Amino acid sequence: MEKTFVMVKPDGVQRNLIGDILSRFEKKGFKLVHAELKQVSKELAEEHYGEHKEKPFFGELVSFITSGPVFAMVLEGENVIATSRKMMGVTNPQEAAPGTIRGDFGLTVGKNVIHGSDSEESAEREIGLFVGDKPLVEYKKDD
Ligand code: CMP
Repeated sequence: MEKTFVMVKPDGVQRNLIGDILSRFEKKGFKLVHAELKQVSKELAEEHYGEHKEKPFFGELVSFITSGPVFAMVLEGENVIATSRKMMGVTNPQEAAPGTIRGDFGLTVGKNVIHGSDSEESAEREIGLFVGDKPLVEYKKDD
């Protein structure tokens, strides 16, 4: 079954939005197979956001994501990568549609509440980085 990596960023954790956000994914039908409140190290942040290394906002990005705990999770379900990103809305919360997580909860592109893998390759890479070989839980088959 398809899996993705999703993380509530430090602004979302600080603003007590973990429950609201997780609830949306649960109600949609995705299964939470791993979750962890985690303080991201500078090394992990730089690795995770490696593709943005040359961008002018890279330093800001790393310092924000390491500024407080994140809620890192792995979600599982049919087409979870694309569907969870649709539920998040576009990167800039000012352009994100109402009803999406960023559209409802975010205001600026830096503090945009949530991150989700954008492809199967990123999901595999990001789950590897954040979860490593910790076991994922298994659910009973739906009736
Ligand atoms: P995310 O999906 O976590 O992936 C890269 C992040 O870079 C993105 O969300 C934004 O939060 C951040 N980002 C993109 N553009 C800017 C910008 N102009 N200034 C600060 N952060 C940005």
